[in-house]
Amino acid sequence: YKFCPLLVLVLISAAIALDDWADGGTILIKGGTVVNHDQQFEADVLIRDGIIVDVAPDIEAPPGCLVLPAAGLFVMPGGIDPHTHLDMPFMGTVTADDFFTGQAAALAGGTTFHIDFALPINHDIRAGFREWQSKASSGCMDYSLHMAVTQWGPRVAADMGQLVAEGVSSFKFFMAYKGVLQVSDGELLAGLSRCRQLGALPLVHAENGDAVAWMQERLISSGIRGPEGHPLSRPPALEAEATGRAIRLAGVVGAPLYVVHVMSGEAVEEISRARLSGSRVVGEAVVSGLALREAGCWDTNFTSAAALVMSPPIRGPGHAERIKAALAAGVLQLVATDHAVFNSSQKAAGRHDFRRIPNGVNGIEERMHVTWQEMVVAGLATPSDFVRLTSTAAAQLFNVYPRKGRLAAGSDADVILLDPRVTHTLGVGAAHSPRMDTNVYEGKVVQGKVVTTLSRGRLVWHEGRLRVRRGSGRFVRRPPFGPLFQGLDEQERRALTLPYGPTPVPREGDQ
Ligand code: URP
Ligand code: ZN
Ligand code: ZN
Ligand code: ZN
Repeated sequence: YKFCPLLVLVLISAAIALDDWADGGTILIKGGTVVNHDQQFEADVLIRDGIIVDVAPDIEAPPGCLVLPAAGLFVMPGGIDPHTHLDMPFMGTVTADDFFTGQAAALAGGTTFHIDFALPINHDIRAGFREWQSKASSGCMDYSLHMAVTQWGPRVAADMGQLVAEGVSSFKFFMAYKGVLQVSDGELLAGLSRCRQLGALPLVHAENGDAVAWMQERLISSGIRGPEGHPLSRPPALEAEATGRAIRLAGVVGAPLYVVHVMSGEAVEEISRARLSGSRVVGEAVVSGLALREAGCWDTNFTSAAALVMSPPIRGPGHAERIKAALAAGVLQLVATDHAVFNSSQKAAGRHDFRRIPNGVNGIEERMHVTWQEMVVAGLATPSDFVRLTSTAAAQLFNVYPRKGRLAAGSDADVILLDPRVTHTLGVGAAHSPRMDTNVYEGKVVQGKVVTTLSRGRLVWHEGRLRVRRGSGRFVRRPPFGPLFQGLDEQERRALTLPYGPTPVPREGDQ
């Protein structure tokens, strides 16, 4: 079987038809096992006009309602992916999935809500926000936005306040991508402090960008120009150093911290140590870090090797096991994707220089299935843990819970049905984005399949058919001062009342 992009495109456009779909109406999910992050029980779920109105045993079907039989299936909150890059200009190109293709694929894989990273335009975050809202207007799934801060100044500080008022309550700081997105420690401190003041959650991409640039130079001059140079130039030590530095700077400021895409055992240890000493540090795993191995970057086929290039890199033996153990133990809190797709012609920009391979891998459609396989089928997590890792934790941390991330009366009807008996194979042929010609999960066999997805009560994925409509996604505002901020003022007040706190000591001769 040879991959034919044109054929796939035709098949996909047929699958993403704009025809009839169950819109609004009343739906009863009957006889399944309802799973929330804290409870699993046999119950029916009644949905009306996009909202869950009842979760209880033996609900009687109201007249005219659509009944979905769910015996033998897990009925769970739709997945929440808090880390995606749709339609993002990056490294001389633009990520291949836009809001429509990426979100349609997400829905087919059981994800019903995501938070995308908006980038500023020439460091202007309000312009970046407007740009991302316009990109997202063609989408078909609910979404929120984080905003990246790539330079510090009074204008940015003021604009952050404005964005929080618009529902953007998290800001990302890159400690890598020197000369492009990277901020200095001084800028990071100022940003952390402003976040603390606004009740916005600061996120960091933690790698030492200066050291990465230095390693890259060294490798290139020693003649290593292929994709293997990518992991070699970004060893775990550089991720751990930046993770530890960000944790300490956040500690000085008194701000909580969310570390995106934790990829190495060493970074896990930094987070573990910090949490044990009382720091409010959250660690995000990404699905590529659970399931993939760096050895692929040494593949003699450039396209296969380059497909795996992302930052921080996919790691060698042992790291994925430590990340999964950390998720099971609660040291890391959730699983995202960092979905940033470049097709093989985009990746080919770095054919003779690994520094020019656009960084990023797919996952928005595969995350739920791969996480179920790697955590639940592998015996490391219960179905309730799975719900927490793929949905509830993100909803809570990013302050949209219980509207998202829970099956309960009053919550949005973002619901999936997972059949644990079905085994299937991931790859380009099975995926729903027409934009990918490689898939980092190609050939991976997984047990457990999302057979139905409801997005705000609409049956968007059912019986192998995707029925989505452009422009049907809603922007979800996220208020500031989420759970990670509760009690911080009290902690600070107690710290400041120590006898040796930051009050000046009066001395003879002071004015
Ligand atoms: O390689 C990656 N991770 N690409 C997307 C940008 C980022 O660093 O998150
Ligand atoms: Zn990053
Ligand atoms: Zn990312
Ligand atoms: Zn990333």
